[in-house]
This record gives sequence, C-alpha cells and structure tokens, in this order.
Amino acid sequence: MQEIILNDNQKIPVIGFGTYKAKAQVGVQSVIDALSNGYRLIDTAAIYENEEAVGKGIRASGIPRDQIVVTTKVWREVLGFKQTKAAFNKSLGRLKLDYIDLYLIHWPANARNYKNWQQINADTWRAMEELQAEGKIRSIGVSNFWKEHLKALFQTAQVIPAVNQIEFHPGYWQPELTEFCQLQGIVVESWSPLARGGVFGNEVLESIANRQGKSIAQVCLRWVIQHDVIVIPKSTSTKRMEENISLFDFELSDEEMKQIDDLPEFGFSGELPNIWPDRI
Ligand SMILES: NC(=O)c1ccc[n+]([C@@H]2O[C@H](COP(=O)([O-])OP(=O)(O)OC[C@H]3O[C@@H](n4cnc5c(N)ncnc54)[C@H](OP(=O)(O)O)[C@@H]3O)[C@@H](O)[C@H]2O)c1
Repeated sequence: MQEIILNDNQKIPVIGFGTYKAKAQVGVQSVIDALSNGYRLIDTAAIYENEEAVGKGIRASGIPRDQIVVTTKVWREVLGFKQTKAAFNKSLGRLKLDYIDLYLIHWPANARNYKNWQQINADTWRAMEELQAEGKIRSIGVSNFWKEHLKALFQTAQVIPAVNQIEFHPGYWQPELTEFCQLQGIVVESWSPLARGGVFGNEVLESIANRQGKSIAQVCLRWVIQHDVIVIPKSTSTKRMEENISLFDFELSDEEMKQIDDLPEFGFSGELPNIWPDRI
C-alpha cells in the first residue's frame, strides 16, 4: 500500500475507508471486510454514531492495532478546550482503543456560530496538542477548514495540522485551498470522493473509464491520489471495496487529469464551513 508521510513523520495510506452511514452491524461488518480487503486507514467520527461498531470491527478483524490508522473527529457543537478533551475521551471509550492515530476538528467554529470563533478553534486545538503530547493521539488535523480558518489557527498553534479533510471530488475539488494546504505541508484528504454517487453518469468520466478499461469510481479515486490527496471512499459492498482499492495498475495522463480538473461544478454537497448549520 502506497503511503504518505505527514508533517509529524507519521505514515498514512493514500487510500482509506469511509464509514459515514455504516452503523451498528453494517458498520462492524464493513470494517471487517475493508480490513480483510487491504484497507489500513479507517475514517469515523463521533457524529456518525458508529465508533463502537468501528472499534468492534477492528478487534474482530484480527489485524494488529498498530497496523491500522484510525481517524475520528470532534463534532462542531462541542468545540472548546474542556469539551474537546471530554469528547475525545468519549470517542476513545466507544472505540475501546488506547490511542487515536488521527484526530480532526470536524468543522471549524465560524463567525456565524461563535462570537469569538478564532478563540474557540484555538482552544480546541490546544486541547488536541495536549492530547498529542500525552501520547493519546499520534497526529492532529482539521476538516473543512478554509484558508481563513487555517490562517487564524496559525496565530496560536504550536503544531501545524497534519491533515485537512475536505470535500474533494470531480466537479468540486477546491483547488486553491488544496494548493494552499500543500504549500503549508498540510496533507489534503478527500471526503465524498465519488460525490456520494454523483459522479456516475458523467460522460467525460465515462469516456476516460472506457479508454482506461477501469470503472468510473476507479478513475475518480485515481484522479484524487494523483493530486497527492488521500482518498477515503465508503462502501458496504465487498465487491466495490475491492474495486475502490485497486488503483495501482494504471495511471491517468496529464490530459485526462486536466479534463477532470476542468469539469464544470456538479455534485457539491452544499455544505459550507462559514455558514453551517445552513446550506446553500
Ligand atoms: N469530514 C467531513 O465533513 C466528511 C463529510 C462527508 C464524508 N466524510 C468521510 O468521507 C467518507 C466518504 O464519503 P461519503 O461516504 O460521503 O461518499 P462517497 O465515498 O463519495 O460515496 C459513497 C457512496 O458511493 C457508493 N459507492 C462506493 N463505491 C462505489 C463503486 N465502486 N461503484 C458504485 N458505487 C459506489 C456507496 O454505496 P455502497 O455502500 O452501496 O457501495 C455509497 O452510496 C465518508 O464515509 C466519511 O468517512 C467526511
């Protein structure tokens, strides 16, 4: 499995497994299946209500804990120093793990929701830095942070985020933010790489897939990793899990990359970091 080295020297696979909406027994089984199909990065979050299931799946898989990179996230309604520490401990308890590999701020506090959003993000980050220093978290990062949120965080952060997990798929890939993060040494991780199914039926993607002899999903996921971005597709089907991780026997040409880069906007979730909980 190809890996990326983060700015804190931790290694992370370029492809991982998303678990949003995979709850209870479906969640347990999909994590077992993903691990047996070669995935070694598992993405969950407190808000997905499946940390317990993910933990069970990890234990049932028989794969040694130190070979699995586990990501979870602090939800946007419990930000702040004390609340973050409490939320972290609850996640750890539900997962039944001793440490988390990658802990993310799921969404930044923003001007619409907090008077002093910069301070709230700074306090949340300080809690995460402390947890990292105590050895309870290997890498700390953010999610859905725009430039404005990152720049404000840099004012007080002792540790630069290792990762920014953002919406990134053909039709909506935030190239300026991606470039900014990469210049700062922050690895970008793509959520909803298949636009939750929105990529299927796109004619440009279909013609590239036909030319390459690959599926549309494989073309999209390969396009993500060729941007040096980590990808975490979700699937509850073992066939599709296998398909989604089989990305290393072909390469998209520069022209194919550009064709996908230049697709007009489609599949955007409507979720914006500066106005949540509303959408556009
Ligand atoms: N940080 C954030 O704010 C945030 C937001 C959203 C998501 N995420 C993370 O990112 C992960 C991935 O995003 P996502 O779950 O929203 O969407 P996604 O991975 O873009 O799409 C998942 C959907 O595509 C289907 N699918 C998967 N592989 C397929 C294939 N090869 N062919 C056809 N259909 C396929 C799945 O159905 P089946 O299950 O039936 O295969 C599922 O309906 C999440 O699970 C979560 O861990 C993070």
